Amino acid sequence: MLAVRGSQCLVTGGAGFIGSHLTERLVELGHRVRVVDNLSTGEEANLAGVADAIEFLRGDLCDPAVCRRAVAGVDVVFHVAALPSVPRSIKDPWGSHDANVNATMRLLEACVEAKVRRVVYSSSSSVYGDTPVLPKTESVEPLPRSPYATSKLAGEQYVLAFARAGMIEGVALRYFNVFGPRQSPHSAYAAVIPMFFQAVLEGRPAVVFGDGEQTRDFTYVDNVVDANLLAASAPTDKVSGWVANVGAGVRTSLLGLLEMISVVTGLQAVCVKQPPRSGDVRDSLASLERATRLFGYRPNVALKEGLRRTWDWVASSAPTLAGVPRRTPRIGLVRQQA
Ligand SMILES: NC(=O)c1ccc[n+]([C@@H]2O[C@H](COP(=O)([O-])OP(=O)(O)OC[C@H]3O[C@@H](n4cnc5c(N)ncnc54)[C@H](O)[C@@H]3O)[C@@H](O)[C@H]2O)c1
Repeated sequence: MLAVRGSQCLVTGGAGFIGSHLTERLVELGHRVRVVDNLSTGEEANLAGVADAIEFLRGDLCDPAVCRRAVAGVDVVFHVAALPSVPRSIKDPWGSHDANVNATMRLLEACVEAKVRRVVYSSSSSVYGDTPVLPKTESVEPLPRSPYATSKLAGEQYVLAFARAGMIEGVALRYFNVFGPRQSPHSAYAAVIPMFFQAVLEGRPAVVFGDGEQTRDFTYVDNVVDANLLAASAPTDKVSGWVANVGAGVRTSLLGLLEMISVVTGLQAVCVKQPPRSGDVRDSLASLERATRLFGYRPNVALKEGLRRTWDWVASSAPTLAGVPRRTPRIGLVRQQA
């Protein structure tokens, strides 16, 4: 899909969840891929399937020397690396700022020097904050509610400013709640879908922060990979200097999600409610109009199919499903009060 098959690509954060899927697809398409990652949240095991086909550089993007080595001879940079967690950023705002803003600046500086053609930046729907407007269009004023969201907005705006100043071609993609295989449920900062699957697998209640009626636009990871490839190969005058949402364009409540997980897994889904977390937003839904218009993005994998594929992976990676209470699909959820 990139302009030239065999382009040299750099995936920052390629040992992470989204970065490893993007890396695999680029290899499949015949591109030369270098990954740079400091393994702060990622794991080399995520790249096991392509280890022999890529160049792996372990290093921190806050280090200018690492950035220079990473971008040498590269046509397109997919800047995926970040510390991607709201609660973590509230606990350690400097950590988020370094990984998400300072590292982005160092990388951009190196890209300009090395004459990289284009940077595709992984941004986040969290930049919108709790604006009541739905769906979120890119012209809605960003109102970040956490240091994480602020750092993603800063990184995104640097990429776009460099592009508008003619220093580089740059496009930013605001992802909405991405999920899929290899997303870890084990971190204290794990996303909701892997945590729900893990809870169901272990036969214990899934933790829901708040009343469970909050909604999200859950996006299967292959759709995000598609968007990256489209944004990397679209004509310069269409995409450079622009930000676009990448979601599924459908919103689902957390309780609705648990119900779908019950159906997909055939296992009992129970939840326990805890008080809402600071920094979390109430509702989220992407307008996809701009992404479709600028680079022809359409989500190819719907939520239920994405959940099925993710469950296949979860179940096949679990040591055993023995002892997990199976049940007939579509029995109502057991809900507990906070
Ligand atoms: N997962 C989602 O739902 C979601 C939603 C919106 C935006 N995003 C964005 O997508 C990107 C990827 O998210 P993910 O879920 O795959 O997270 P992840 O934690 O699995 O991947 C991030 C990767 O970046 C690496 N990294 C972090 N700081 C680094 C540094 N200073 N130098 C080198 N490597 C570094 C980590 O080791 C990790 O491998 C992030 O930019 C995140 O903000 C994710």
